[in-house]
Amino acid sequence: MSRNTVLTLLREREDFLSGQEISRRLGLSRAAIWKAVDALRRNGYDIEARSGLGYRLRAAPDALTETEIRNFLGKTAVIGQELHCFPELDSTNNYAKGLAQTSAPDGTAIIADSQTAGRGRMDRSFQSPKGKGIYLSVLLRPGLSPDRLPPVTALAGVAVCEAVERVCGVRPGLKWPNDPVLNGKKLCGILTEMSLEAEAWHIHTLVVGIGINVLHTPEDFSPEVQEIAVSLLQALGKPVSRPRLAAALLEELDRAYAALRNGGLREYHAAYCRDCVNLGRTVRLLPTGSGGEEVAEAVDIDEDFGLVVQRPDGARRTVHSGEVSVRGLWGYVE
Ligand code: BTN
Repeated sequence: MSRNTVLTLLREREDFLSGQEISRRLGLSRAAIWKAVDALRRNGYDIEARSGLGYRLRAAPDALTETEIRNFLGKTAVIGQELHCFPELDSTNNYAKGLAQTSAPDGTAIIADSQTAGRGRMDRSFQSPKGKGIYLSVLLRPGLSPDRLPPVTALAGVAVCEAVERVCGVRPGLKWPNDPVLNGKKLCGILTEMSLEAEAWHIHTLVVGIGINVLHTPEDFSPEVQEIAVSLLQALGKPVSRPRLAAALLEELDRAYAALRNGGLREYHAAYCRDCVNLGRTVRLLPTGSGGEEVAEAVDIDEDFGLVVQRPDGARRTVHSGEVSVRGLWGYVE
């Protein structure tokens, strides 16, 4: 598409690029160049045109399009080789699960600018307003046995922390098991879903869905969610480029996925323990099934990323994701 080639040329040159040079380098007529510039402008690109000088790209939109994300995306081994971007989906996880039935390759990433039925853990919904967040799912075909699954969501949590730190200069913490948090509030949600191949006892496909609150203002959250959620804009006081962050996230997920397949989890376990905001704190354990609330001290993370807790009588046990929800003594984290 000539609009992408024109955009690439304008990106390479910070100054004006004459119509004549664009025409020479791309073999396009003046009319075709004008059409491409017009189409880019309609897609939110701020392109200045000056007679005698040509065209200059002043600003690119904060758009979760393949073009914008690839502009920031470095080389990855598996994740994001194939990228599907949509203005709206019901849920990127649903779309990824549909793709799992096709020949879509390992590492295919799906990104939406909004979701009409974003899903969270434990059948909750995930608010996904347009133009505010990053709603991303990756389809994985790891060929691992399910007992190697527990680290996946923890690794995804560390990948989010790394990506946010690289792009924004602040590192979120992790509320066990996998909620990236900033200023004591939830910045991101992660939902991992798997389908098993029963005879082979292998994970057939794994869908890791990640929703990051990036440009939300308080009104973008419902009143109940406002109490516990935060966006990067709220925490940092300035906007963050969503395509840049989405690209960094794909790169970090790619690194984490390599570690999962090659058994290089030690580095991630150490990072998780550093990031985990619950360790060394008193936590309230809210069982997802029957049973009453319990208060205990969070003392360690085991090798499967389970939370080791110690009761006031000194007895220790490990709780696993899905078994309990963890809250701070007073609030969401603390
Ligand atoms: C949670 O905190 O309960 C998990 C929320 C996960 C939300 C993400 S947004 C992208 C992907 N698509 C979904 O429908 N859910 C996940």
